[in-house]
Amino acid sequence: MNVLLIGSGGREHALAWKLAASPRLARLYAAPGNPGIARHAECVALDIADHAAIAAFAREKGIGLVVVGPEAPLVAGLADDLAAGGIRVFGPSAAAARLEGSKGFTKDLCARHSIPTAAYGRFDNAAAARAYARQVGAPVVVKADGLAAGKGVTVAMELDEALSAIDACFEGAFGAAGAEVVVEEFLEGEEASFFFLCDGTVALPFGTAQDHKRVGDGDTGPNTGGMGAYSPAPVLTPELEARVIREIVEPTMRGMAEAGAPFSGVLYAGLMLTKDGPRLIEYNVRFGDPECQVLMLRLESDLLELLDAAVDGRLGGIEARWRDEAALTVVMAAKGYPGTPQKGSVISGVAEAAGADVQIFHAGTALDASGRLVAAGGRVLNVTASGRTVTEASARAYEAVGRIDWPGGFCRRDIGWRAVEREKAAG
Ligand code: AMP
Ligand code: GLY
Repeated sequence: MNVLLIGSGGREHALAWKLAASPRLARLYAAPGNPGIARHAECVALDIADHAAIAAFAREKGIGLVVVGPEAPLVAGLADDLAAGGIRVFGPSAAAARLEGSKGFTKDLCARHSIPTAAYGRFDNAAAARAYARQVGAPVVVKADGLAAGKGVTVAMELDEALSAIDACFEGAFGAAGAEVVVEEFLEGEEASFFFLCDGTVALPFGTAQDHKRVGDGDTGPNTGGMGAYSPAPVLTPELEARVIREIVEPTMRGMAEAGAPFSGVLYAGLMLTKDGPRLIEYNVRFGDPECQVLMLRLESDLLELLDAAVDGRLGGIEARWRDEAALTVVMAAKGYPGTPQKGSVISGVAEAAGADVQIFHAGTALDASGRLVAAGGRVLNVTASGRTVTEASARAYEAVGRIDWPGGFCRRDIGWRAVEREKAAG
């Protein structure tokens, strides 16, 4: 089968690497891809906002499956437009992608189906939102309704901060994404992510992970897209996993089907494990980045076969097989990230740093005029390793980081610290 992968980050490099290992794959194309993806796929300079151009390319190349990495094209209806043209696509319809594209939509679904989540209010004007925030009291959380590239959430420890966030949303800080606002109760606990492959009816558990959103060691400093992750998430015990499936994911799948928007694609549940049980923080409708990188390292099954089954509604009775190992990824970012990252610094030693248990996925990289690998974004490399324990995977990943020569980059030194501490305590 010929496959077209949409996207250009570390998540898509990990998907390309795993798809390339499938005996079912004939040719892999990626749009637009990156220099790491180019090792496994032919990269094509398609504009992913131009759905007609993607459909035309898919027909010309006899593409049997389009795999969409990021959320924006899904929310914009890429899957609908390809499907309408008779092209098979892995990823939700725009109506189903509202689970990520509208926080208010998801909260209302939770309310209708008694899915445990933070108490909330949904507002289209500042006065009502401010009144509700006052009523809840600090700490309180303010969220722009739509996609805001991970910047639309304010966890306010003081009421004033929440009120300013509400005003900023309605003054246009997030454009159309902030025309509506969700104000919700603050949840306390440890966060974890649980992934599912979905075919409209069945949600197949597809691994757990924990990430590190803050830029600095000890989970300090500003939020980022994620500075590292590991899988599995030891805090999600089999009992908690069963509760999440029963209380959160299964009612969501039923609710979406009832709403006329059955969910197919990757459902990524962001969870808070509170003392009263698991609560849904938010859904995403695609793999996490960098969580996907650790999942792909652990996945033993043929990814293409699973995605193909999801598209055909054949996930019932299928199980994914996983290596009995942990995986951990360290994000190397360009200096300045998450503010303004410095572009163009030269990176060397990447090939030498990879090994049997270490894969280095490219995110924001490019080749310069003389063919040297350079930084071209904020998050640049994902140094990803496996091991018997998170501690071992971490040691291997940091050893590989040490072999990469990139004065223009930096990384956190403590990725996986929670799991490492748990492993130490367990002896
Ligand atoms: P983002 O990834 O930018 O959407 O940020 C979401 C993050 O905000 C989550 O990962 C949580 O850390 C935090 N968050 C969101 N909602 C809540 C909540 N109700 N209570 C506590 N923290 C929250
Ligand atoms: N790493 C968090 C995300 O992909 O949303």
